[in-house]
Amino acid sequence: MARRRQLYEGKAKILFEGPEPGTLVQYFKDDATAFNAQKKGVITGKGVLNNRISEYLMQRLGEIGIPTHFVRRLNMREQLIREVEIIPVEVVVRNVAAGSLSARLGIQEGTRLPRSIVEYYYKNDALNDPMVSEEHITAFGWAHPADMDDIVNLTLRINDFLTGLFLGVGISLIDFKVEFGRLWENEDMRIVLADEISPDNCRLWDAKTNEKMDKDRFRRDLGRVEEAYQEVARRLGILPEAGVRDVKGPEIMQ
Ligand code: TMP
Repeated sequence: MARRRQLYEGKAKILFEGPEPGTLVQYFKDDATAFNAQKKGVITGKGVLNNRISEYLMQRLGEIGIPTHFVRRLNMREQLIREVEIIPVEVVVRNVAAGSLSARLGIQEGTRLPRSIVEYYYKNDALNDPMVSEEHITAFGWAHPADMDDIVNLTLRINDFLTGLFLGVGISLIDFKVEFGRLWENEDMRIVLADEISPDNCRLWDAKTNEKMDKDRFRRDLGRVEEAYQEVARRLGILPEAGVRDVKGPEIMQ
């Protein structure tokens, strides 16, 4: 593999320069963090599974007309994506109370919300990703009001579609986080779904038992973390054929 330039390293992924202008290679690590990286660990095989799960979900979303940054999977741990200008806002959708919503408002985990709730967090590790409103986002110019219309519409469509898709395989989509970017094509700009969708940034509970099948197993030391990620992939029918034994994947060339 040719040497290539690393552009950015995040907590769970690395971005490399892509093979052609306007593309990037997104590499999925096994590293896991929680509570703004105060807790660190490794979930063996996570990168392989998240690469595959995110590919699958972005492809299905693409088929229903949700524009995404995903181009194609390259290998066990890497995918080719379109280069976008990331909007520095984490968009969270909640269907059932859990996590920080339960803590902040004193609503018991597992309580179905009267309707899906969209929240925004400013992507800023130094500030611990504070919750913000659309007012902050537009006033500070992180996104324009028209961008926010697109973002809310896309987010609610993503939630409807993924809720049904997961329910079909016996999983309740409790909440999730997505990120969007601006994709420039000549003079035109489109808002597209970026980053990843995986058990790292969704809460997924078994629809019958409410057993947690996501990163909360790592955050809360519940054990059987690897197994939970594998089970999500298995139910989606996409467990990599080689299994996740080949956890090393290609070496990172820098
Ligand atoms: P929360 O309940 O901790 O606010 O999390 C809501 C959802 O967002 C949950 O599915 C996990 C996801 N999430 C991330 O993907 N990244 C983060 O940094 C945080 C805090 C949450």
